[in-house]
Amino acid sequence: MAEVHYRDASRVFPGSTPVRAVDALNLQVADGEFLVLVGPSGSGKSTALRMLAGLEDVDEGTISVGGRDVTDIPARDRDIAMVFQSYALYPHMNVADNMGFALKLRRRPRTEITERVAEAARLLDLTPYLDRRPAALSGGQRQRVAMGRAIVREPAVFLMDEPLSNLDAQLRVETRANITALQTKLSTTTLYVTHDQVEAMTMGHRVAVLREGRLQQCDTPRALYDRPANTFVAGFIGSPAMNLLTVPISPYGAELGGLTVPLTRASHRSRLILGVRPEALRLVDITDPGMLMTVELVEELGADAYVYGRARLGATTERIVVRTPGSRTPSYGQQVRVGLNQPHTVHLFDPDTGERVNP
Ligand SMILES: Nc1ncnc2c1ncn2[C@@H]1O[C@H](COP(=O)(O)OP(=O)(O)O)[C@@H](O)[C@H]1O
Ligand SMILES: [Mg+2]
Repeated sequence: MAEVHYRDASRVFPGSTPVRAVDALNLQVADGEFLVLVGPSGSGKSTALRMLAGLEDVDEGTISVGGRDVTDIPARDRDIAMVFQSYALYPHMNVADNMGFALKLRRRPRTEITERVAEAARLLDLTPYLDRRPAALSGGQRQRVAMGRAIVREPAVFLMDEPLSNLDAQLRVETRANITALQTKLSTTTLYVTHDQVEAMTMGHRVAVLREGRLQQCDTPRALYDRPANTFVAGFIGSPAMNLLTVPISPYGAELGGLTVPLTRASHRSRLILGVRPEALRLVDITDPGMLMTVELVEELGADAYVYGRARLGATTERIVVRTPGSRTPSYGQQVRVGLNQPHTVHLFDPDTGERVNP
């Protein structure tokens, strides 16, 4: 077991325009923590993981594992096990041999290998399949073999790069829960990469959000949701996304199409970006104060519905999404009034930098 520490770590891919795939990453992962790296495609998640695994150079800065600087240490000497998206199982070996292969390479005694494989198989419900080849397994079983191969090595750190992306939706949810339970049981420091913010929010003790190689925020799922550091995190975490509306500032507060949201702190700006989640809005009586919205789409989810539309806010028209009880939903083209739920939470961001301005 070990803690992981990236210090100003960068990976720059050379070329006519060099790509800073990971740009001065500072990140500390505690011993036994489950940390999720999340971000859109191309944001540098895999590169950050591969740098830690020793599969990618660290061009600037350092990375340490358990207090030991591993920046220049070869991959095989880092005591790290990685589970890839493609599983990378050996097709000609059965499950037991696939899982024990790393130990065999290290010339561990046969009895020890058999024991450790049996133990991992038990944890992963793979005992009945130890003699099968990968081709005779389902996608979910193959995924578990890939996990098992990492577990038998008893590494200091697990790295997982989108390990659920080849599974169908239902199996993904199930496997998500299994991986979380397994990580809790083993208490092995884990870095887990995904582009799926739901996966990130449900699995991680903390979630690190990356954008274009740069860390945006690293915090608990709750804190990311409640206090996003900038408009990128605000829009990326949560589904449907937070409404981000550019609104004028009056002496009384932020003017939200007929509603005035008092500011806790005076602003010298004439406009701010006001962030409000769909569940912080509600449909009110058409004669009440609020934004006048024309309904463009209603997404029925059973208990809830999401109502999408456009509202005029001062000089501009903004798209808005409101969560509402599923029982009484408006219809396409209808004009509705949108108010704020009490107590409401609004987020304020600088329109130039996108940084959060309210506490
Ligand atoms: N071997 C490589 N050579 C050049 N550019 C690369 C290489 N690997 C990744 N990149 C670039 O680095 C950036 C980050 O890639 P990656 O870490 O794979 O992102 P993610 O895993 O978040 O989708 C992308 O712009 C990608 O094109
Ligand atoms: Mg990737």
